[in-house]
Amino acid sequence: MATVHQSNGHGEAAAANGKSNGHAAAAAADWNFAGGKDGILATTGAKNSIRAIRYKISASVEESGPRPVLPLAHGDPSVFPAFRTAVEAEDAVAAALRTGQFSCYAAGVGLPAARSAVAEHLSQGVPYKLSADDIFLTAGGTQAIEVIIPVLAQTAGANILLPRPGYPNYEARAAFNKLEVRHFDLIPEKGWEIDVDSLESIADKNTTAMLIINPNNPCGSVYSYEHLAKVAEVARKLGILVIADEVYGKLVLGNAPFIPMGVFGHIAPVLSIGSLSKSWIVPGWRLGWVAVYDPTKILEETKISTSITNYLNVSTD
Ligand SMILES: Cc1ncc(COP(=O)(O)O)c(C=O)c1O
Repeated sequence: MATVHQSNGHGEAAAANGKSNGHAAAAAADWNFAGGKDGILATTGAKNSIRAIRYKISASVEESGPRPVLPLAHGDPSVFPAFRTAVEAEDAVAAALRTGQFSCYAAGVGLPAARSAVAEHLSQGVPYKLSADDIFLTAGGTQAIEVIIPVLAQTAGANILLPRPGYPNYEARAAFNKLEVRHFDLIPEKGWEIDVDSLESIADKNTTAMLIINPNNPCGSVYSYEHLAKVAEVARKLGILVIADEVYGKLVLGNAPFIPMGVFGHIAPVLSIGSLSKSWIVPGWRLGWVAVYDPTKILEETKISTSITNYLNVSTD
């Protein structure tokens, strides 16, 4: 119970503290919410967020100094003038705005026509058809991560398998949601393939999902059909779903073709994260998605899709 020092509202407490600015001071109160100062949101920034580290480094760099500053780890392709999205895309967005039909609140899961368009696009890469209901539109790939992690964290004691090296937003979001993280390694000598053999030893009955990032950030590798098939088989054996972060699906380095994890959705269910940000060079448009590749309807039965819908129905976009 908080001990709140009573005041008559006319500055008595302030006077007792030797302050007389005309406002009652609340200096000596024991606030019930003060425990939050040691909580994950208050303390995680510098540890878990790559943005926090980047902002810190940027703040210490003197742009007008004698040496030029080269951003060697740039995640925003749009800052380079050579990269510009198609003028047709810009025209289509401008024209849509001008109709006045899209200034309304959209459904939390996205506009039906936009969901259909993404479903049609993604269906080209897999041997079955996705429907609009399989697509959840999000504010970039980042919100897709923000949606999936709490859905998986609903079960007390759940854990998730993440790649090392990886994309740190997953660790940060898991920490916010008290979802335990277990890491598996990517093997440099094997083109940064997943150490598939290690997965069984780190997983247990509380493991809900594993993440693959393909094409990979930060390693740039692109996984082969055989490797992805192996991942799907292990996921099935472990009884876990595969989160496939495919935001770089159209930015492939080298000659290996990109194969969507959804191709193996009949072996283990897949939640794929996609985004316009990198592939269409418009990160500021903040459009991404979670695509549900679930031809055997496991994610429907286990209410993962319902949980995603319910999450998005109370989110801001
Ligand atoms: C692997 C990976 N996933 C997700 C994201 C977030 O995507 P978005 O910029 O669309 O929010 C990024 C952005 O850098 C990324 O590299």
